[in-house]
Amino acid sequence: MSDKVKIKIAFFDAKDYDIASFEEALGDKNFKIKFFDTKLNTDTAKLAKGYDVVCVFVNDTVDEKVIASLVKKGVKLIALRCAGFNNVDVRYAKDKIGVVRVPAYSPYAVAEHAMALLLTSVRRIHKSYIRTKDFNFSLNGLMGFDLHGKTVGVVGTGKIGRVFIDICRGFGMNVIAYDKFPAKDSDIEYVDIKEIWKRSDIISFHCPLTDETYHMVDSKSIKNMKKGVVLINTSRGALIDADALLEGIRSRHVGAACLDVYEEEADVFFEDRSGHIFEDDTLARLISMPNVIVTSHQAFLTKEALTNIAHTTLDNISEYLSTGKCANEVNV
Ligand code: NAI
Repeated sequence: MSDKVKIKIAFFDAKDYDIASFEEALGDKNFKIKFFDTKLNTDTAKLAKGYDVVCVFVNDTVDEKVIASLVKKGVKLIALRCAGFNNVDVRYAKDKIGVVRVPAYSPYAVAEHAMALLLTSVRRIHKSYIRTKDFNFSLNGLMGFDLHGKTVGVVGTGKIGRVFIDICRGFGMNVIAYDKFPAKDSDIEYVDIKEIWKRSDIISFHCPLTDETYHMVDSKSIKNMKKGVVLINTSRGALIDADALLEGIRSRHVGAACLDVYEEEADVFFEDRSGHIFEDDTLARLISMPNVIVTSHQAFLTKEALTNIAHTTLDNISEYLSTGKCANEVNV
């Protein structure tokens, strides 16, 4: 097939692992992809001129201004290569440009990462790893606690939340959950959010970021949690008010925090900032705490997930451009 009829995709915020997985999925399919390492924003939207599709990730800016600019340039589709779409002004996009996403690529990747963070935190693996590298075999300060018998509160019982629940049950934990739309066909013990705060030794977040869930963890809800609670966030950073969390850690009310996402992550995560003066005081302070573990939005990053993301994204694009519809379209 000649280059002329190929679907042209401007791929923003491209990392080496994206390029490898998309090139593998591409095979001889009808696409031509230009990989840009820059993020999509008002300044870079001009790069999309002449392309049919923009392919974006979690920290690209797809607000009203950017969408208007893309539409003007003839771009027909915004293809998110992720599940969450809180960075896209879907209301503004309606009837102007299509928006598709990858609703599921590996719930196991994210749920397993949440458990990896929890185990690392409660068994102090992050500390002992560094110690033994320096031939320090002291056990002082490494005491953890059993997960068996503890109560975990799961907020959001969709694809990832449910896998996480299964993992926790395997550890012999008591699971309670809160979801705005509880699953009908399950044996999950649903409680209201106040019960989650009150009863949980560990709370893990697996719900989307919306106006309702924004800062659901703030100074008020932290006060209602058990002293020593462990918080795990692999969902979206702004579910947690980071300053309130820092205060909770400082006051010793929050026992530990495991964060794969951070509310101001867009300018920091996915980049190598070592050797730079770090400007975000809240994140710097959180990272400096012995009981806070931060990973850089890497919960999705498994071989299986990347393969699924690449294939589903390309299928979404084909389907939308050939039929004007897509099963994975994001609607208001
Ligand atoms: P899902 O759509 O299958 O499940 C989300 C659940 O949250 C649903 O059961 C829904 O009813 C519930 N929910 C909606 N509004 C709620 C509210 N106000 N309060 C409580 N629950 C509410 O989504 P999935 O695939 O399980 O993903 C969950 C979240 O994980 C995504 O929204 C995304 O932000 C995040 N994520 C993070 C990744 C990472 O690499 N760290 C990768 C993939 C997803």
